[in-house]
Amino acid sequence: MIRIDIQKNSSSKISSIDFNNLGFGEFFTDHLFQANYEHDDWITPVIKPMDKIAIHPGNSTLHYGQAIFEGLKAYRKANNDIQLFRPEKNIDRFNKSATRLCMPQVPKDLFLSAIKSLVDLERKWVPERKYGSLYIRPFMFANEAFLGVRPAEKYTMIIILSPVGSYYNKPLNVKVERNFTRAVRGGIGSAKAAANYAASLYPMQQAKKQGYDQLIWTDGQNHNNVEELGTANFFAVIDNKLCTPKASDSILEGVTRDSIIQLARHLGIEVDDNGVSVTQMEEAYRTGSLTECFSTGTAAVISSIVSIDFDNFKAEFNTNFPIAGLLKNTLMDIQFGSNKDIFNWTVKV
Ligand SMILES: Cc1ncc(COP(=O)(O)O)c(C=O)c1O
Repeated sequence: MIRIDIQKNSSSKISSIDFNNLGFGEFFTDHLFQANYEHDDWITPVIKPMDKIAIHPGNSTLHYGQAIFEGLKAYRKANNDIQLFRPEKNIDRFNKSATRLCMPQVPKDLFLSAIKSLVDLERKWVPERKYGSLYIRPFMFANEAFLGVRPAEKYTMIIILSPVGSYYNKPLNVKVERNFTRAVRGGIGSAKAAANYAASLYPMQQAKKQGYDQLIWTDGQNHNNVEELGTANFFAVIDNKLCTPKASDSILEGVTRDSIIQLARHLGIEVDDNGVSVTQMEEAYRTGSLTECFSTGTAAVISSIVSIDFDNFKAEFNTNFPIAGLLKNTLMDIQFGSNKDIFNWTVKV
């Protein structure tokens, strides 16, 4: 086990934070974790005061985008214990993303102990449930100055923390995107790579300009298979069955997606994770069997959809969302420790 050096900040900014108005990702805690990779090894893992990092202008990440990240949360239970939700899933996904981007693996024990030690040091920053939770953002980037196109030999991995508000979850008005593509077969869509987010910004900006909250990504070949919704996974309730796109190399397989699938099956809701197409949804809407659609992700857990623009017609949904509501409440009660953790998903800090 690699030892993490802990250098404490002499002062804290916490008294300047209004926990009633946290927003998402606007404030950062007093410390960060950092480890550097060179000569095939992770060296100098340290928790130190939050500060800027200096980057050489020739840093290859700035030119060729070798950058990946993760997103998970720490939750405060009613008895003030702090717990993480399925951190091993994020660690595995991070290392899978690293492989696809020619970046080094981060040893699981170093990764988990970095998250736990950092959250433990910042435990006063974990909001009470009524205010939100503590978002954990691990990321890795190439940290070497050169201009030839090749994988770097030096990397930096950092973890920062941000107290985030309880996501205000207004139901979404969305459109089916049949022009732009987030990711294609053989691409890097199943990696949590910064480049995927860069590719999604322009289409999402256009959708917002047209008055939509988000867009439904479809496959790059025929634009008929649903892939994701914005930066979250997609679910449709058809004939009381939960249908979701099949995992593939153009879809980021969410930890929330996996948890919702397991939870739904446990609650006796049938799940079909072999895909859902736009044509299937249009037909199901016309016959009245498409009753709910929602997205899943760490930030908002579940966001329900109130309308979908299919180009030729607009589908509108009742706003009571019984299945999404049941799944969301059950999952959040596990995350915040007020429901029994029957799946062994939580990890105490
Ligand atoms: C593109 C994309 N898809 C899906 C998800 C949902 O993943 P998770 O449930 O692990 O947050 C996210 C959010 O992290 C995302 O950015």
